[in-house]
Amino acid sequence: MASEPTIEDYYIEDRTFPPSPEFTAAALVNDRSLYDEAEADLEAFWARQARELVTWDQDFSTVLEWDLPFAKWFADGKLNVSYNCLDRHVEAGRGDKVAYYWEGEPGDKLTLTYSDLLTEVKKFANVLKGLGLEKGDRVAIYMPMIPELPIAMLACTRIGVAHSVIFGGFSPDAITDRCEDAEAKLIITADAGYRRGAPSGLKVNVDAALESGATCVEHVVVVNRCDTDVTMTSGRDHWWHEIMADASDDCPAEPMDAEQLLYLLYTSGTTAKPKGIMHTTGGYLTQVAFTHKYTFDMKPDEDIYWCAADIGWVTGHSYIVYGPLTNGCTGVMYEGTPDTPGQDRLWDIVERYRVTQLYTAPTAIRTFMKWGVQEPQKHDLSSLRVLGTVGEPINPEAWMWYHEHIGGSSAPIVDTWWQTETGGHMITPLPGVTTTKPGSACFAIPGVTAELVDDNGDPVTKGGGYLTITKPWPSMLRGIWGDPERYRETYWSAYEGRYFAGDGAKLDEDGYLWLLGRVDDVMNVSGHRISTTEVESALVDHPAVAEAAVVGAADDTTGQAIIGYTILRGGNEATEELREEVRQHVSTKLGAIARPKAVFLVDDLPKTRSGKIMRRLLRDVAEGRDLGDTTTLADAGVVEAIREGADTAEED
Ligand code: PRX
Repeated sequence: MASEPTIEDYYIEDRTFPPSPEFTAAALVNDRSLYDEAEADLEAFWARQARELVTWDQDFSTVLEWDLPFAKWFADGKLNVSYNCLDRHVEAGRGDKVAYYWEGEPGDKLTLTYSDLLTEVKKFANVLKGLGLEKGDRVAIYMPMIPELPIAMLACTRIGVAHSVIFGGFSPDAITDRCEDAEAKLIITADAGYRRGAPSGLKVNVDAALESGATCVEHVVVVNRCDTDVTMTSGRDHWWHEIMADASDDCPAEPMDAEQLLYLLYTSGTTAKPKGIMHTTGGYLTQVAFTHKYTFDMKPDEDIYWCAADIGWVTGHSYIVYGPLTNGCTGVMYEGTPDTPGQDRLWDIVERYRVTQLYTAPTAIRTFMKWGVQEPQKHDLSSLRVLGTVGEPINPEAWMWYHEHIGGSSAPIVDTWWQTETGGHMITPLPGVTTTKPGSACFAIPGVTAELVDDNGDPVTKGGGYLTITKPWPSMLRGIWGDPERYRETYWSAYEGRYFAGDGAKLDEDGYLWLLGRVDDVMNVSGHRISTTEVESALVDHPAVAEAAVVGAADDTTGQAIIGYTILRGGNEATEELREEVRQHVSTKLGAIARPKAVFLVDDLPKTRSGKIMRRLLRDVAEGRDLGDTTTLADAGVVEAIREGADTAEED
């Protein structure tokens, strides 16, 4: 009988890769002392990291105040994030150090030092003040990967305004929803950004978003990135270069409470409404600085670090902006796609800047595998000394390819498990210490306590279970914006006293953790979280659709692919055009990343006798698996009909 693979079916690798003696000898951490220290006294451990890695305007007297599920870290301490990221490096005489080597997709380049960044940040903070923004307000940011993006974020932090970055691939509706939920007063955007060799409009989406709602937004600041035609609404819209021209660069960093809201970042959950994940100042900065330093073995005087993610996601927030700048590192920032102008784009950048740490996602690695080894082989990648992955489980084949063809069979791979909600790394090898296994994220970092539990919430010491975190950590989310009850319910109610991450995992006999993916209705497509419910609501929003079910089916490149099954309203004919239109409708509602790979127009959906849609069967159909036991189905013929339809439907 075929059914979904269980946790026990997963293949466990037995290859092991210890760091080389040379790497370990030179590494920042080469023994277990950090683990031991954290285990002995978790709060003292984080207090030491906070004082060592971050500069405080006022020291804290308490480390953790824990009123489950609400945490306060370093509560009476005061600090400013932009001061930590910029001023203190300039004050220490490192103003000329490069913060970012920025590379535009068409090949334009810009080098920004810490002094350059500081000047721009102060000016833009004054612009924000001039537009009426005050401490505690929220602004939305919808921008391409250009230097003005981190400048805007840091300017917000300087004056205590929280940003809410919206990924540039999201639709106008998604912008409206997020701005309304956050009550954003201002949006920072650009005319367009380069994607695959051509400008892709952004301001036009902001205009559409503001036409349909988000009346809270009073101003829009627009960077002229691509010189495309845009409509500027007088009194509301302002060109970045014009409004910055007269801005003063005198703007002292204001000390903030450690628990001051730093940013909101919306992420998909199991309902149709994305959640505004709240991150605050002191604990967040401490953990992202700590993990950036030790996970990547960062040596700011020698290294050129590159996180090839988009700042629209948490990876970019923590590991392009806040972690690296707090640590005073030099990083690369790239605007475009990895195949423009050629499929060796990343390797060309690695070679030219002599990148030492590269951080990317398994879906990208699988794409590079498809493009072939000749692409990286065109370039000298010998500068790379640590490789990172994030976003989804990495399959051992992709791990080995990364290891051999990018890491020259010697650079340690750090497979970092974490989430928008966790703010920073939680489970990862430390490159100078951990013997890695391909596909395993290995162990919780020092200061984090992960445990698997079974259905009853009892700890599992070997085999499969649900991943939970047993104690608060500094960069943990502080809540869901405007909805404390949902926060408690989503993360803290499944297993008493534990944070439930929503992931399944397995512990092998050596205590290594193997992440197995989401156990809820959240899909992971190319490392991006998309909720099945969100896509289902977008499908039924189409006037021809009566009912919809969405599943994530295994996909060789993207990890999971979105497959939609829809029942049409009476009077609509199931044509190829309509199928495509329905698919496009999701793209319009949510953004291109949520467009289903395939939409099937079906007469009925498989339901249990109590009326619940049987997603497992739909996933089996989508993945071409034998259907197994269908005895609980109300009408077994439905599945056969769907399968026949699936067999004949063309895949896009
Ligand atoms: O399922 C896990 C997966 O991505 C989810 C978090 O997604 P998001 O909040 O968008 O953040 C992605 C970047 C931090 C997790 O619940 N995930 C993330 N990293 C890994 C992973 N799954 C396995 N291995 C990882 N290294």
